[in-house]
Amino acid sequence: MSDRRSAGSDQRGSRAQHAARREVDVSLSADRSALLFVGASQVVTCAGPARARRGAELRDAGVQPPGTAVAVEGGRIAAVGPEAELAARWPDAPRVDCGGRLLMPGLVDSHTHAIFGRPRFEEQELRAMGLPYMEIARRGGGIHSSVRDLRARDEDELVALALPRLQRIASYGTTTVEVKSGYGLTVDDELKTLRVIRRLQALLPLRLVPTWLGAHEVPQEYQTRGDAGRAEYLRLLVHEMLPAVAGEGLARFADVFCEPGVYTVAESRVLLEAAREAGLGLKLHADELQTSGAAELAVDLGAASADHLAAVSEAGVRALAAGGTVATLLPGTMLFLGSARQAPARALIDAGAPVALASDFNPGTSPTVNFPLVLTLAVSQLRLTAAEAVVAGTVNGAAALSLAGEVGQLAPGFSADLALFDVEDVRELPYWYGDRLCRGTWVAGVACHPVEDERPLLPPQPPTR
Ligand code: NIG
Ligand code: FE
Repeated sequence: MSDRRSAGSDQRGSRAQHAARREVDVSLSADRSALLFVGASQVVTCAGPARARRGAELRDAGVQPPGTAVAVEGGRIAAVGPEAELAARWPDAPRVDCGGRLLMPGLVDSHTHAIFGRPRFEEQELRAMGLPYMEIARRGGGIHSSVRDLRARDEDELVALALPRLQRIASYGTTTVEVKSGYGLTVDDELKTLRVIRRLQALLPLRLVPTWLGAHEVPQEYQTRGDAGRAEYLRLLVHEMLPAVAGEGLARFADVFCEPGVYTVAESRVLLEAAREAGLGLKLHADELQTSGAAELAVDLGAASADHLAAVSEAGVRALAAGGTVATLLPGTMLFLGSARQAPARALIDAGAPVALASDFNPGTSPTVNFPLVLTLAVSQLRLTAAEAVVAGTVNGAAALSLAGEVGQLAPGFSADLALFDVEDVRELPYWYGDRLCRGTWVAGVACHPVEDERPLLPPQPPTR
């Protein structure tokens, strides 16, 4: 490739060259059956077994040399190989010129709470003043505050609020997003949230995976009635909400916030066993703030993932290493909470646990749409290599959604979900932290445009004299 420069070249020169590169015509992919991606600096395939990667497997992101092309046909990856070879096989296919950028599988964000109303920026200051997250919740803030807010909004309003947020998530390179309910906490409001996700799926090229999180909190109106109220809400979850959610086919997974002060390990077991019985896959908010043994529960139940794990015990690490549950780490949450603690990622990987990364996008503890920033935190805070972070954010994210055979790899047969980043080397992805380097994404071969029309910070002002 003529305009390629070495990975070690001058920084400012590198940025200037980035700016000078041709813009990609993403419209090429619309309604075409075949498509050829050419001219990438690196093609990062993450190709390998269609299951979560562990240990040394995580270190291989499948970096291909310059001159590698990707052929897409009928929404699937058809081939990855030398450009000349693929051009000869698909002589008439339209081309996407990657312009010396990096092409890889679209990022898989396996943990978000993207359906909410009002943001909760006031809580960030309260925490800075020394009020802990759980104390804010005890005073009626936190999840309770988002619940009051969401209950007051109708479906249309929630769709209108979530749509641009999900578009922004896509604009950073994510192509699959798990979306949880959990700010409704009544049968009607949880169904409303999950229907909003279904409507959003019809409006967006992004792939959405809906999760029912009716056990995100015990609603305040039940908490005020003590143990009896708590037992009554648990009955409602199992005997009314779950059958309604499963009956309408609105969720692929069930999740529980298993945490001292929220749901106990025993309650989580009852809820998740019922969900499994109803045909849902299982996820668990596990050992996020305090150690409770939730990770061991997730493994014991064969959950697809145990998420957070900042407070996981050594026994929990051993259980995750021995079991089939993906350990999903959310370093953005601990950063935003101002916690000095992070999940023991190295210990998990070194013990053999399959580790994934996700954003936890939500209004309380992680209001970020920027998945590459999570990759940065994975390297700088969790001490992963760039390759480990990339595999954790693609293949292992897919495994955490039971989609390991469908997305997360650029390999023949996989859905053509791709992301193009304005970098040349995979190690630059976590390096340029906070920047939006994504220049295009494709889901099942269809272009998913990045957000370019930024909203001005202030509405236009009339001229002053
Ligand atoms: O993953 N821990 C529970 N749920 C979210 C926070 C939700 C909220 O504060 O609104 C989390 O951190
Ligand atoms: Fe969460």
